[in-house]
Amino acid sequence: MNSLQWLHYFEQNRLNRAEPPWHIASPLESQQRAGLARSLSHFQLGESGEGRFLLEQARRQAADDPAYPETLALFIEEEKEHARLLEQLVRRFGGVLTEKHWTHSLFRLMRRALGLNFEIQVLVIAELVGTAYYRLLALRTRDPVLESVCALVLRDEAKHIAFHVDWLRAVQSRWLPAESAAWSLQFQLLFTAAANVAWIDHRAALHVSGANKREFFREARRECISFLHSLLVPPALQLAIESAVAAR
Ligand SMILES: [Fe+2]
Ligand SMILES: [Fe+2]
Repeated sequence: MNSLQWLHYFEQNRLNRAEPPWHIASPLESQQRAGLARSLSHFQLGESGEGRFLLEQARRQAADDPAYPETLALFIEEEKEHARLLEQLVRRFGGVLTEKHWTHSLFRLMRRALGLNFEIQVLVIAELVGTAYYRLLALRTRDPVLESVCALVLRDEAKHIAFHVDWLRAVQSRWLPAESAAWSLQFQLLFTAAANVAWIDHRAALHVSGANKREFFREARRECISFLHSLLVPPALQLAIESAVAAR
């Protein structure tokens, strides 16, 4: 894994970030605003962690790659920037921030259960599910500020997933095919469980925005499939694919 390249990416990505046009009034109805405020406050809680446990683990387990924990620290900073954007959105929609929620406690418990690689896996699952959620919100709601926040977050999350793919691919290059297959199976089971939990928690906001369960799971499954494929693709080919997509 080329951690220095990722370090450079995260350093650059902090610069000159566009700020959503907060001054524009929301055209959404009060029922939509209330549903979104509650739902977004749960995502805000998930994005706001300090990542101390993750960084401790990374410093211990990636001692031969000091740029990796340094890059992870910038990744956590970027997640905190998402938390700031979501906090503003929650306030825009008249909601209050949440300090505790069972989905967040469950997420944190799982993250810390089995060490660094498992924590990265749980983060990836949250990012894949989050990507499906933000994409649907951006598609279905007509609020320019919400659309702008979703665009910023989605752009960052795509790179977060690619960053974790690089790490997991390097780890798994030392595994037997049967070990990779077993890992992939447990990943898909956990992902499916997480997508169902997210649907239960956020269905009201998605419904009120005009999205349905089928669309949510279609988006989420598409993200999961694309993640699993990218783990199998050699890095040089992945880069070529990304450049071709970006050039379109
Ligand atoms: Fe995020
Ligand atoms: Fe992320």
